[in-house]
Amino acid sequence: MLLQVRGLTVRFGDDVVVDDVSFDLDSGQRLGIIGESGAGKTLTSLAVIGLLPDTASVQGSIVFDGVELLEKTDAEMTLLRGNRIGMVFQEPLTALNPLMRVGRQIAQPLRIHRGMRMKAALDRATELCARVGLPDPERMARMFPHQLSGGQRQRIGLAIALACGPSLLIADEPTSALDVTVQEEVLKLIDGLVKQEGSSLVFVSHDLPVVATMTERVAVMRGGKIVELADTRDLLDSPRHEYSQLLIRAANSSDDDFLNLARPGKT
Ligand SMILES: Nc1ncnc2c1ncn2[C@@H]1O[C@H](COP(=O)(O)OP(=O)(O)OP(=O)(O)O)[C@@H](O)[C@H]1O
Ligand SMILES: [Mg+2]
Repeated sequence: MLLQVRGLTVRFGDDVVVDDVSFDLDSGQRLGIIGESGAGKTLTSLAVIGLLPDTASVQGSIVFDGVELLEKTDAEMTLLRGNRIGMVFQEPLTALNPLMRVGRQIAQPLRIHRGMRMKAALDRATELCARVGLPDPERMARMFPHQLSGGQRQRIGLAIALACGPSLLIADEPTSALDVTVQEEVLKLIDGLVKQEGSSLVFVSHDLPVVATMTERVAVMRGGKIVELADTRDLLDSPRHEYSQLLIRAANSSDDDFLNLARPGKT
C-alpha cells in the first residue's frame, strides 16, 4: 500500500472541513476525488503533501510508504515534496515563480533532491520540457512564466512535479483553468506520463467526466465527508449514494454521450 489515509479530520476553529476521511491507494493506482466546491477536496490533498495552512488543526493518520506523515516536521515534509510526492495545481501561473526562467524552476527539485549540479540539472530540465510535449524545448526552458500560454505553463508545472520521478502525483483541478481543447491535451499528457512513470495518481476535480476518464476509483466528497468510494465503472453504472446519483445525472444532462465517453480505459 503506497498511501493509507485514516480518519483524516481538518478543522478551522470549530469548523470541521474534512470529516473522518479514509482511503487507500496502491502503487500505480489512480484515485479521483470529486465533489462540489467547498467539499474539502483541496484540503484533503494539501494534508497529504503537508501544505495545510498553519491555522488548520489536523487529526487522523496519513501513512505514505510505511511512514506516518502527520508526525513529520516541516523540514522532513520538504524532503518528500517534489521528490517522492509531486503535485500540480489548478492555476499554474501562481504555482510558478514569475521571476525565474522555467528551466531553472524545473532544475530546482533536481538540485535540491538529487544534488545535481546546475548545468546537468538544466540539461535535464530541457529534456523534461520535451517530455511534456513542449515544442523547441531549449528555447522554452529560457522563457519566463508570463511568456507562456496557460497550457504551456501547466506542462511546465508537470515537468517540475515529475522531475524527480515521484511515486505519487497529486493533481488538484490541473486543467480547470484551461480552455477545453487545451484541457484535453493536458489530460492526455498526465495520463501518458503517469502510465510511463508507473506513479500513483490522486486526481481532484469537480468535473465527473474528467475524473472518470482519468481514474479507476473515485471518492465522492460532500461537506467534508467521503459519501461514496467505488470503482469508477461501478460508480457510473450504479451509484449508491443519492449525491453520486445527482452528480451523474447532472453530467449526463450536460453531455448526452458522457457515459460512453467517460469509460475508464478508453483513449
Ligand atoms: N484557510 C482556510 N481557513 C478557513 N477555512 C478554509 C480555509 N481553506 C479552506 N477553508 C474551507 O474549507 C472548506 C473546504 O475547502 P476546500 O478548498 O478543500 O474545498 P474544495 O472541495 O477544494 O472546493 P473547490 O472545488 O472550490 O476547490 C471550504 O468550506 C473552505 O471555505
Ligand atoms: Mg479545491
